[in-house]
Amino acid sequence: MTIVEEKPQPATGAEEKKLPIDLVSNAGFVVPGNNAFGNTFRDYEANSERKDTVEEFYRKQHMYQTVEFVKKMREEYGKLNKAEMSIWECCELLNEFVDESDPDLDEPQIEHLLQTAEAIRKDYPNEDWLHLTGLIHDLGKVLLHPSFGQLPQWAVVGDTFPVGCAFDESNVHHKFFQENPDNDNPKYNTKHGIYSEGCGLDNVLMSWGHDGYMHMVAKENKTTLPSAALFIIRYHSFYPLHKERAYKHLMNEEDEENLKWLKIFNKYDLYSKSKVRIDVEKVKPYYLSLTEKYFPAKLRW
Ligand SMILES: [Fe+2]
Ligand SMILES: [Fe+2]
Repeated sequence: MTIVEEKPQPATGAEEKKLPIDLVSNAGFVVPGNNAFGNTFRDYEANSERKDTVEEFYRKQHMYQTVEFVKKMREEYGKLNKAEMSIWECCELLNEFVDESDPDLDEPQIEHLLQTAEAIRKDYPNEDWLHLTGLIHDLGKVLLHPSFGQLPQWAVVGDTFPVGCAFDESNVHHKFFQENPDNDNPKYNTKHGIYSEGCGLDNVLMSWGHDGYMHMVAKENKTTLPSAALFIIRYHSFYPLHKERAYKHLMNEEDEENLKWLKIFNKYDLYSKSKVRIDVEKVKPYYLSLTEKYFPAKLRW
């Protein structure tokens, strides 16, 4: 098994994590067949008790996520003046919430974070940066908390997509974009919109949510996590890209490399949402050591 180097790399550095291809096929992770509601994962048509809530969620999300809204949110939250706390304190804060957009999950967030991280750790024991990425990838959901503006669910969770160009048909509940004002704006409704071919996802405005926020927090607090980790945090809800290969024309070479890691990560994010219980206190020291390695003791949020 090839081991990639473990040395932390600069957050914004051009150096990328190269994907050890044999790790992909060696991964021993077993995909469970059903989610907590007894349905297959990400089945938006299944008659679960969540279906109506989820549909209503995407109606609002597609209607309200515009270029103007995203710019406003990025400016406001870019100030990082909402709180000062450690990564672990944030995990505990988040534990109060359940994600309404998600047809698969009805457990406290901390379980999901640790299930994801621990499942990755089992299959990729030497990639400690990826374990930590598992732990922190959803911390941006604190946007739901009163101290963070208590944003509505549609501005925090759910699949993400680029704004400023045409909404690709592979987006879930695509029909609801008809109510988005950008959909009628000739500046924003063409294939490339305000972007150019191969411009790189870093230059693309994504719908606002926990992914973009956590990416901002990690980067601005000068994490030493590698670029693949930041890519995973930023795009893990960008299902049209990693599942359908939509919006490929906006990607550059570095994005292509990082996407390989995101695809690995995604399997764990999605399928660890089953009834596997984690002994939080037992694994806590390990994750505290990782946060010390890759982050300052207190972060600005
Ligand atoms: Fe997420
Ligand atoms: Fe997640």
